[in-house]
Amino acid sequence: MDPGGAGPRLSTAGKRGHRVGAPRHNHRMSISGTDAYATETHLPPLVERALAAARALAFPHSVRPEQGRLLHALAGGAAGAVGETGAGCGVGLAWLASGAREGVRIVGVERDPERARVCAEVFADRPEVEILHGDWRRIGERGPYDLLVLDGGGTGKSADDDPADPARLLTPDGTVVIDDFTPATDDPPLHDGKVDRPRLFWLRHPALNTLELPLAPDLATLVGTRRRLAGTETTWRGFAYGQIVRGVVTRIERFGVFVDLDGSEGFITAPELTRRPFDSYDEVVHVGQEVTAEILAFELFRPQVRISTAALEPDPFGEFARSAFGRRLSGTVTKVVPFGVFVRVAEGIEGLVHRDELTDRAAVETGAKLTVEVTDINLVRRRIRLRFAP
Ligand SMILES: C[S@@+](CC[C@H](N)C(=O)[O-])C[C@H]1O[C@@H](n2cnc3c(N)ncnc32)[C@H](O)[C@@H]1O
Repeated sequence: MDPGGAGPRLSTAGKRGHRVGAPRHNHRMSISGTDAYATETHLPPLVERALAAARALAFPHSVRPEQGRLLHALAGGAAGAVGETGAGCGVGLAWLASGAREGVRIVGVERDPERARVCAEVFADRPEVEILHGDWRRIGERGPYDLLVLDGGGTGKSADDDPADPARLLTPDGTVVIDDFTPATDDPPLHDGKVDRPRLFWLRHPALNTLELPLAPDLATLVGTRRRLAGTETTWRGFAYGQIVRGVVTRIERFGVFVDLDGSEGFITAPELTRRPFDSYDEVVHVGQEVTAEILAFELFRPQVRISTAALEPDPFGEFARSAFGRRLSGTVTKVVPFGVFVRVAEGIEGLVHRDELTDRAAVETGAKLTVEVTDINLVRRRIRLRFAP
C-alpha cells in the first residue's frame, strides 16, 4: 500500500474490506477506503487532516468518501452526542465532526494503541472530539448517542463480535449506522450462498426501523432509527429479548394470560399461548401452572414482559405444509360458519372449505366426514384453504 495514498481506486492489497488482524469478511465491500480519496477534491479540512494521518500510518481502511458524506449529513441532525466504534485514524470521525452542529460531543473508540494515539492527535485542537483507547464497548461510557456509527466492533458481522444493543446506546430517536455491505440482490439477503444473518439482525431488529442504502455499485450501508413504539426495548430489568424464562400463571383474562416472572409481570396473548387451535383458555393453561416461554418484547408503560409459550412448541403447521399441499385428505367438520366450514385435517390443523366450494351445503354439519384437497397454504397467516373433493 502506498502510504501517500496515490494507489489505484480498485486495489487488491489493503482493501477496506480487510479487518486489521482479522480475516476478511465478505459482507464488506472491496475498495480500499483510504485510496478511494485519491481523486477526491474539496474535502473538509478536518477530513484532509485525518486522511494525511491514515496515509502516514499506511492505514488503508478509512471510511470511503461516499459513506463519509452520508455521515456528514447524518451528524448535522444530532443534538447531543455522536459516537463511532473503530475510529481508525479518524477519517469517519472527521466527517462526523465537520457535519455536526456546535456543541455536539463526538466520541470515538479505537483498540489499536497507535491508531488511537494518531487519531487523538488529529483532533488535538477540537475539544468536542474525544478518543477512547480500548474495546468498542467503551463507547457505552459516554452514551446514549443521537448517532452511533459501528465501524469496528459491535456490528455482529463475525462470530467473535457481538452486536451492540441500540436500545441501550441510542437516544429515543437515535440512529445507528453499520457500514460496508455489498448491496443486497436477494431477499432474504445472502452471503456466501447462505442467509446473511448479521445483515438481517439489523434489518429486523425490533428496536429499529432499518433501511439499506446503496451508496455505490459495490457499497451499501444500513441506517437504523430507534423506534419510539412501546414494546421495542430489547433489555429490561435483567431480561432480554429472545431469552427463555419460567414463571407461574397468576390470572387468566379474556384478552390473555398473566404470568409471574419472579416479581415482574409476564403476559401471553391468545395466539402466543399455543400453536394448537383452542376455544377456551382452560383447555391450555390453569392458574398456578408453571410455564416456560420466550421473551418477545417489553411494554414499559405497563410495565410488562410479553412472552410466548407457543414459540417453544414444535410447529405442526409447518410439518403439515411440507407434506400435505395438493393432497386429498379426509377430515372432520369442526365448525360451520356463514362463509364455509372448517375441517380438521390433522391433529391441531384446520382448513377452510369456502361455501362456494360446497356442492351440497345442507348436508354439511359439525362432525361430518369430508374428503378434501389442500389447495392453498399460507404459513405467515397460518391459513389453509381446502376444496371439497368427493
Ligand atoms: C474499518 S476500520 C475503521 C475506519 C475508521 N472508522 C475511519 O473512518 O477511518 C476498523 C477499525 O476498528 C478497529 N477495531 C476493530 N475491532 C475493534 C474492537 N473490538 N474495539 C475497538 N476497535 C476495534 C480496528 O483496529 C480498525 O482501526
